Amino acid sequence: MQSHQVDGVETIETGLRGVPVGYCTTSRVDPVKGLFYHLHPIHELAEWEPEAVIEYLFKGKEPDAAELLAFKNDLIRRSRNSPDVLKQITKFDRRLDSMTLFSMALLAMEMDQVEKGPDKYREDALNIIARLPEVVATLINHQLNSGPTPASKPELGYMENFVHMLNIPNKNTEQLTHVMKLFNIMHYDHGGGNLSTFVGKCTSSGLASCFQSLSSAMNALAGPLHGGANRDCLAFLQSLLDVLGDDLSEASVEKEIRRILSEGGKIYGFGHAVLRVEDPRATVFFDYAKKHFSENALVKLALIFREAGHRVLAENEKIQNPNCNVDAISGTMLTAAGFPFAQFFTVLFGLARCVGILMQIIYERLEARGGKGTPIMRPKYIYKGRS
Ligand code: MLT
Repeated sequence: MQSHQVDGVETIETGLRGVPVGYCTTSRVDPVKGLFYHLHPIHELAEWEPEAVIEYLFKGKEPDAAELLAFKNDLIRRSRNSPDVLKQITKFDRRLDSMTLFSMALLAMEMDQVEKGPDKYREDALNIIARLPEVVATLINHQLNSGPTPASKPELGYMENFVHMLNIPNKNTEQLTHVMKLFNIMHYDHGGGNLSTFVGKCTSSGLASCFQSLSSAMNALAGPLHGGANRDCLAFLQSLLDVLGDDLSEASVEKEIRRILSEGGKIYGFGHAVLRVEDPRATVFFDYAKKHFSENALVKLALIFREAGHRVLAENEKIQNPNCNVDAISGTMLTAAGFPFAQFFTVLFGLARCVGILMQIIYERLEARGGKGTPIMRPKYIYKGRS
């Protein structure tokens, strides 16, 4: 990678890779061991209840049965959106990108803000986490034009209620709920430096509200180099499937990958800014998809592509990480579970990621620097004349 050395600054061309800009009190990403929520590597949390993982991320301590029940009840108590907020979402123009709608929906949620004092960040964060499943289900149903959203039943459970509220055809509720839980847990947090979290925290450093900060974070997540990658990966796999049809073997997939690369094309779903191994979240999803959807053609292809892509990319010494990232399989797994609506994959990523961003905002606004909060972000740009 080319670096620009100006006044000792070497990071301008590298997107600040590896430059410490703050503390993260929820999770960390090790280049080799992958994602940890506090002390647990992510694969250990795959079968936990989503509410337990949220509470664990928040407190840093595994909740006991009584604490978990209290937290679930707190989420239920906070879970109602006002009719005004929901009505606003159903007025949004369906032609807009789903992530644009999500960002707008987060701003609309500010209509229900109660606490205006210094503790607003904590209250808003918990309220948003509790209310997001209904907001996102309403948004999806609205954009799909699939009818009114069923009344929220938060007592069903966090993700159970979300799936209950989704108006989608041929829903296998049990199967979809399991997959949505897994997808949700895997995407809550990814350290502090991923673009959406960083942007959300930057926005909140100017003391913008949680709603405004999350809205900007979701705009950052929308881009194809970040959360939008899961849509592009699925589209890429689908185009491979169109070309290969039933001819799904290591040899045919490898040949097609080599053809695409030799023609200057791009292979999707590999590499990561921090990880130098297969993304452990991808490993969890690959294992799940192999176990539950092995007959699905896209899943079969994704499993072969994982190996063949690695083999081909590893031949190139310049590629630092020829391993799959989470986007290589997440959309395929959702599709196999009966949620084939790729335009919402990034929204589902965002539904989960808002949890981690909010927790990190609470730390930065209310706890950092002995309660003073982190300062407003104000890095330096170096003037570069045009002539
Ligand atoms: C994420 O989960 O945010 C992505 O893997 C991107 C990142 O960590 O930079």
